[in-house]
Amino acid sequence: MIAEVKPTATATLTLDGVEVSFTEGETIYEVAERAGREVPTLCYDARLEAFGGCRLCVVEVDGMRAPVASCTTPATAGMVVKTTTDAIEKHRRTLLELVASENRENEVDELRGHASQELKSLLDRYEVRGGRFAGRQSGTSNSTDDNPFILRDYDLCISCYRCVRVCAEQEGDHAITMMNRGFEKQITTEFNGILKDSACTFCGQCVQTCPTGALGDRKAMRAESLPGEVEKTRTVCPYCGVGCSVDLLTKEDRLVGVQPAMDGPANEGALCIKGQFAFDFVQHEDRLKMPLVRDEDGELHETDWETALDRAADGFKKAAGEHGRHAVYGVASGRAPHEAAYTMQKFIRAGFGTHQIDNCSRA
Ligand code: SF4
Ligand code: SF4
Ligand code: FES
Repeated sequence: MIAEVKPTATATLTLDGVEVSFTEGETIYEVAERAGREVPTLCYDARLEAFGGCRLCVVEVDGMRAPVASCTTPATAGMVVKTTTDAIEKHRRTLLELVASENRENEVDELRGHASQELKSLLDRYEVRGGRFAGRQSGTSNSTDDNPFILRDYDLCISCYRCVRVCAEQEGDHAITMMNRGFEKQITTEFNGILKDSACTFCGQCVQTCPTGALGDRKAMRAESLPGEVEKTRTVCPYCGVGCSVDLLTKEDRLVGVQPAMDGPANEGALCIKGQFAFDFVQHEDRLKMPLVRDEDGELHETDWETALDRAADGFKKAAGEHGRHAVYGVASGRAPHEAAYTMQKFIRAGFGTHQIDNCSRA
């Protein structure tokens, strides 16, 4: 029996003088974003439960005494919302001044992470420069954590909790949390140790959601001083069959980093350690560029493709001739593109008459 699907209830509210419809369960922020309003946010990540920490997304709602955080306030029928008033903009600018005053620096290289430019973009938009509230600064960078993947530069942390929440809600790892209060507040692991000794899988999701660059992609940051602009090329991670969408970061002709595609249908911004950080093989000096065959001396020697393919064909023929067609088993590389994977199964099925073909992502 097919289950009955209830139609989702829709209603309307007034947004900046315009009547807009919304679906039950949406927040004011979601309605405003869909309607094209540019409500600023810092602690918001569409993939995570709304948190309501930074208060930048505040809006005015008729009948409510104080501005409300639009990311945590449900839209209700008949609501009258103003997203941009002089008072709201002043409130946002002051909040940004407080944040900017607390950080050692507010401008970091874009190679630090996907969201690393969010704070800087807002400071530019509101023409905020640090200094008005200069004084004590919070956060202590963890310089003892010398893992090769993640920079923990908490002098730039604004306590938005996005890293902690993505680790718990998306990765399910709960590797990091927050300790202390006020200026002493600090992102930490259990027993305040290093990531390697925690439940961290080095997936990099915390790095990519951090809006200030307090968490940085150490592998990509190696290229900060290289000449050239960062270019992004959308593609699919070649490591396994999940098909995570990624943006390859290049400078001139060099691959310098990888960032997850937040709108990737298979991964929605998530990657594993391999897809995120294991790209050095592409330009590694030990990478094979010529086929190798083992000669009578037992050693591998470089040769041309024709010789290598002839040797492989002879080996296949010998195995199938002596032991039958099921003596051949093909395992396609998870790094191969679809076309190569298709050719591989054709080669095994049509060439040898066996269905013994698989892919290393399943093997
Ligand atoms: S790298 Fe992944 S597992 Fe490690 S702390 Fe960050 S989000 Fe958690
Ligand atoms: S490290 Fe980055 S993501 Fe985590 S709380 Fe600080 S600013 Fe937010
Ligand atoms: S984005 Fe709404 S409170 Fe931070």
